[in-house]
Amino acid sequence: MCGIVGCILNKEVAPTIIESIKKLEYRGYDSVGIATLTDKVNIKKGSGKIKEVDEKIHLTQVDGNIGIAHVRWATHGNPTKENAHPHNSCDNKISVVHNGIIENYKELREQLESEGHEFKSETDTEVIPHLIEKYMNEGNNLLHATQKTIEKLVGSYALAAICIDEPDKIIGARKESPLIVGVSPNGNFLASDVPAILNETREVIYLEDNEIIQLEKDKVTVMNNQLEPLEKEIVTIDWNPEMAEKGGYPHFMLKEINEEPQVIKDTLSESSKIKEIVSKFKNFNRICFVACGTSYHASLIGEYLIETQLHIPTEVILASEFEYFQNTLDDHTLVIFITQSGETADTLKALKTAKKISETLAIVNVVGSSITREADHVIYTRAGPEIGVAATKTYLSQLICIYLLVAHLGENDELIDKLFKIADLAEESIQREENIKKIAKKYKKSKDFFYIGRGFNYPTALEGALKLKEITYIHAEGYPAGELKHGPLALIDDGIPVVGILPPGPSYPKTYNNLQEIRARGAHMIILGSEDDKQIDDVEDKLVFNSEIDEIIAPLIYIIDLQLLSYHISVEKDIDPDKPKNLAKSVTVV
Ligand code: G6P
Repeated sequence: MCGIVGCILNKEVAPTIIESIKKLEYRGYDSVGIATLTDKVNIKKGSGKIKEVDEKIHLTQVDGNIGIAHVRWATHGNPTKENAHPHNSCDNKISVVHNGIIENYKELREQLESEGHEFKSETDTEVIPHLIEKYMNEGNNLLHATQKTIEKLVGSYALAAICIDEPDKIIGARKESPLIVGVSPNGNFLASDVPAILNETREVIYLEDNEIIQLEKDKVTVMNNQLEPLEKEIVTIDWNPEMAEKGGYPHFMLKEINEEPQVIKDTLSESSKIKEIVSKFKNFNRICFVACGTSYHASLIGEYLIETQLHIPTEVILASEFEYFQNTLDDHTLVIFITQSGETADTLKALKTAKKISETLAIVNVVGSSITREADHVIYTRAGPEIGVAATKTYLSQLICIYLLVAHLGENDELIDKLFKIADLAEESIQREENIKKIAKKYKKSKDFFYIGRGFNYPTALEGALKLKEITYIHAEGYPAGELKHGPLALIDDGIPVVGILPPGPSYPKTYNNLQEIRARGAHMIILGSEDDKQIDDVEDKLVFNSEIDEIIAPLIYIIDLQLLSYHISVEKDIDPDKPKNLAKSVTVV
């Protein structure tokens, strides 16, 4: 999983390209590189985050009006300079950046090596410039050589190629990895995602699988894989560049958490569209959610809601485990795919299988992403661009969509009224930040954390623990309150922090008792509960919420405080919460 950018301008291209590729750092930050054309291919690349590499080798100091760039999340080969993209042909005339995985690269490499090609990296990508070189040596131009190359590739790719013999064009192609085109009067762009081009243009063409593109300064030609020209719609994006910037906050994650009250309102405005989609569903008697990571936790809350409110059998399947459960799908199952990026490879793969048998719905944040183009129905979460690797506002927007879906399916006006009241309650979470900072300081050195909840709030415990793991590297586990006594209670020791999620509602008495059992064994309790709850008066570390937030609504509000807690522990530990090690925002490999 990586990010690519290419652009042709009527001025020096490097400063623009490096600004663009910075916007894709959420896709990977193991290494970065740029290639431009003058009378030769000029390459600068190195391992590390863009800022570190730029400080060492000055990525913007490279001449040329045409160029390509890459940020890498290593799959084949360590994150070294040699493995950083762009990769060149033997004669150094052709340069390529690539996102995806070439599954048959070993055979291709052996074949090319037997024909005399010399490889300089361990990557799967490097077969691409060598194949293009081979076909150009046989008399093809860059476009035809790229077409012949991709015919040989098994796997996924979004790629961009430049060649010194045709210094006025970039050739791009996509299959199962995202690629968009940005069109502007000053030149044209291609990129893995929209934020990369927002500073330059808001006019976008979404490429589909098996499409090839020829980018020139004044012309964009999209073709099918037989090189027949295609008519493509130009879409105007309504995100502005500032929306993709930090907006004065020290980190994207904090900005994105602070946007949550507004996101709730924006997503609620989708209510009538969701009602319309619900009216189009065929008959179904079972629901399956399929998702990964944070989106999986949103799905679990969906399961609790549907089972309790609609009494429809529901299950949640991790997308990476989907193949073991697909055999029981039928035409009376509604399969719901939840994904902020719309590009997660496991989720996309599961959708392609499920749609052959069942009706499918995708709940997605990124407009035009691959999953939106595969599903029968799409609900957009309208959270805007999320740059922090740890999902925050997109999670909340997924939950709002799920709650609206359930409310419309059950014609439950009372639930809809409750939802429309919560944006102000979310605002209050942000105001508890000073208290959260104090708790973060107190527990920043802890080695383990437990998060405990019951019913609708058990997935909140899982998500709270995941946020902590992701951005603080502290070991954390989420548990259903009643399960602790079946094992994990043995781990409770003096001083271990336990986050108890204790909203008012029918589950309260049992959860309260479970938390007492933990407290009696010496744990330090951090309780999230109602401001009217006298039973938690003696708890030192607590975050208290408006008592109107009952256990059904609590997942929409309590999680904001847990996101802030993880954020502040991360900052206290001097970790960059936007770019946790080993993780990436959009996981486009299975
Ligand atoms: C990555 C991200 C997570 C996200 C998961 C699923 O691991 O770091 O934040 O929850 O992918 O992504 P999706 O785009 O499908 O929601």
